[in-house]
Amino acid sequence: MKALILAAGKGTRMKSALPKVLHKVGGKAMVLHVIEAARDAGAQKPIVVVGHEGDRVQEALREIEIEFAIQAQQLGTGHGVMQARDLLTGYDGPLLVLCGDTPLITTETLQALAAKHQLAGASATILTANLSNPHGYGRIIRNGRGTVEKIVEQKEGAPEELAVTEINSGAYCFDCKHLLQALGRLTPVNVQGEYYLTDVIEFFVQDGLVVEGFMVTDEKEIMGINDRLQLAEAEGLMQVRTLERLMLSGVTIIDPKSSYIDAQVNIGPDTIIYPNTIVEGPSVIGSNCILGPNTRIVDTEIGNGTEINASIVLKSSIGDAVNIGPFAYIRPDSQIGSRAKIGDFVEIKKSIIGEGSKVPHLSYVGDSYVGQGVNIGAGTITCNYDGEKKSQTYIEDKVFVGSNTNFVAPVRIGESAVIAAGSTITKDVPKGALAVARTKQVHLLSWSDRNKKK
Ligand code: UD1
Ligand code: CA
Repeated sequence: MKALILAAGKGTRMKSALPKVLHKVGGKAMVLHVIEAARDAGAQKPIVVVGHEGDRVQEALREIEIEFAIQAQQLGTGHGVMQARDLLTGYDGPLLVLCGDTPLITTETLQALAAKHQLAGASATILTANLSNPHGYGRIIRNGRGTVEKIVEQKEGAPEELAVTEINSGAYCFDCKHLLQALGRLTPVNVQGEYYLTDVIEFFVQDGLVVEGFMVTDEKEIMGINDRLQLAEAEGLMQVRTLERLMLSGVTIIDPKSSYIDAQVNIGPDTIIYPNTIVEGPSVIGSNCILGPNTRIVDTEIGNGTEINASIVLKSSIGDAVNIGPFAYIRPDSQIGSRAKIGDFVEIKKSIIGEGSKVPHLSYVGDSYVGQGVNIGAGTITCNYDGEKKSQTYIEDKVFVGSNTNFVAPVRIGESAVIAAGSTITKDVPKGALAVARTKQVHLLSWSDRNKKK
């Protein structure tokens, strides 16, 4: 099976500089949802028809296995399909034609659509829906025997046609060869002066080809996004879908209303999500974790049994049984080893923290390597930036760092070394040494008596 996705329209009502199909739902561009649904339904390398801001759409989809057809001027849905003619010539199997602005369409529905198409030996099968308010959509006009005769657009329909509540979702399965033949017969002679893809249905019927309708079970799936209100509505529906998937697979979500989880996130069983938790991007969370409350996790992989409380974790990798927070900030490209602890008011940036190491309070660790079993006392700072360049701090296994230490990078601390509290370390510390780098304490005796006499 092949698929063609129409995504050339401007999306004027979005009032956006970003092409409509690149707006995200569930953390993923709308058109990408459609591409993936088509691909999972069995259509390899879908063709995406781009036009308005087409370069940006192509750039955004650079890494996805698809083909592009360019529709320089948007002269209608039929015209859009015509632009893919070269890519489709010679292919005479089933072709899904979909819209790039229907992010809720599912693989299951597309599979069922294609199955019905095949079973009925149809040349076209239209995905339809029965809507209590069909306004704006093309209507499915059937004859006395119930067979589809044509699709009539809102702007073209006679009153009795517009009274029909069965609508064209804009998704179809076509026999590609017949579709290509019919495209040549389209004319823009209609109210909108466009080449309507929907006109091919009438040609098929005239030629005695079989046209079928397949009604979608859940009409929300075919929802097209035209403005920000519909974008928010689709986001809400996508959230429900994602949270239901996770809960049914064994994740506890204490308050679904305040939990936001992107569509592509995976979470293992018996993980508990507390309120106000956001998990974004292609994050993977293990089992038996506790996330939240008030936590944001972006593009991060987390092992099993890890707890993250009231913290932010960006583009990092976190091991098993790690304890993070409250109020920790893990910045991109960090790796936190298993059983490590990152406590309150700690910022970790582009650093590796080894297994079982602890950074329990009020620290900044940046551009650093910290080995295993290291303890970093409260208030320790890696001075990684000299105003011009960033430098590395390298702390070997089992080092003990006293409170309020400054590591002036680049600097290397040997295994099992001990740093006295309050030290400013500017030189490498040998393995096993005690480093004291602070002024000696002096006592001026009877100082307070002297003050009293004054
Ligand atoms: C179309 C259908 C209508 C159906 C409705 C479902 C036609 C003539 N009508 O209506 O029966 O009920 O979809 O939403 O097909 N596009 C292009 N190039 C173009 C025009 C459109 O790529 O030249 C893309 C749009 O970006 C969009 C999709 O095609 O993704 C549908 O276009 P839209 O203008 O929303 O379709 P309608 O005319 O509303
Ligand atoms: Ca239109």
